[in-house]
Amino acid sequence: MSRIKNKLHALFFWQSRAGEVLNKIYDLRIFYRNSFYKGFSSRESYEAFLTKQYHIVEKGLAMPVPRKNFGAEKIRVLVEVSEDYMTKYGQNDLLQTISSTLDSYLDANEDFETADPVLYTMIQRFVSSVSANGKGGTKLVTPVIFPEFDGFAKSRSSVRAFNNVEVENDLVATAVDTAKYAPSVCNRQGWKVHLYADKLQVSKLLSLQDGNGGFGQTINKLLIVTADSRCFTNLESNQIFIDGGLFSMNLLLALHSVGVGSCCLNLCVPYTREKKIKVAAGIGEFERPIMMIGIGHYDSQTRVATSCRKDSNQILQVH
Ligand SMILES: Cc1cc2nc3c(=O)[nH]c(=O)nc-3n(C[C@H](O)[C@H](O)[C@H](O)COP(=O)(O)O)c2cc1C
Repeated sequence: MSRIKNKLHALFFWQSRAGEVLNKIYDLRIFYRNSFYKGFSSRESYEAFLTKQYHIVEKGLAMPVPRKNFGAEKIRVLVEVSEDYMTKYGQNDLLQTISSTLDSYLDANEDFETADPVLYTMIQRFVSSVSANGKGGTKLVTPVIFPEFDGFAKSRSSVRAFNNVEVENDLVATAVDTAKYAPSVCNRQGWKVHLYADKLQVSKLLSLQDGNGGFGQTINKLLIVTADSRCFTNLESNQIFIDGGLFSMNLLLALHSVGVGSCCLNLCVPYTREKKIKVAAGIGEFERPIMMIGIGHYDSQTRVATSCRKDSNQILQVH
């Protein structure tokens, strides 16, 4: 009976369009249930909104010629929501970063007090109640020439034959520390990395993934990169996967930079499987799995697939 059920399930999801439609419905259900397109149902949504809003101020300050006293309405909302948030959750680093950003804004707009006295008073009230941490506003950068990146990026390959040397969690933490510098929509950083070391759990999770046959047993630790739908809003249901993908790429390179081999493992699965993965992985319903990444150390002279690349002129189209 269960074989027939499995066959029907496979037929439905892998060979019919109806399966894809159901996947999209699941996609949108999670998105509308958790995103902040209509108010904040979680602390994470509040924080994502505040980050989006204060980042608008940072971006405005980083324009070639910042418009005088720009963004009054956005700043009013930022201060109001920050105060609501503070009442609910108390002071924290995020509010201090917002305070720093608003300090920078006032520094850049010295006549703001006369231009908009009501908003000026609101901002002053906020910045005097929340100490600035120096983490918001603008900074100066200079072009970097780093030719070694070419060789480094080209030296990463998906590894499918790991050795038995344990990957220390600290190495993964170092890689995450680098990877988090990936760009994200309005700097919301709605990503997470789940790390699994327990052999039984890793093997259970790998049994729910379709691309690790023949080498899954050599994977030392398993990562699951997810993106949190609570950090996104209108028109951003796809952005979840874009931000998660950008972060994942940075993570692969960061792992490579500390000598850890990796292989992305696709999660192109029906929503029914995604639910099972979330249960087995202890991942919340609001998170969307981007990919699994099998990691491990590997011997020198480990054989990998060549994975030949297209010519760059097939990729770059100069218009
Ligand atoms: C999102 C994603 C999912 C992937 N899934 C699998 C997988 O399930 N199994 C596997 O062996 N390789 C998987 N790969 C690895 C690709 O085959 C590999 O990245 C590609 O051939 C390029 O080779 P390289 O990573 O060695 O440069 C995946 C890659 C990506 C980006």
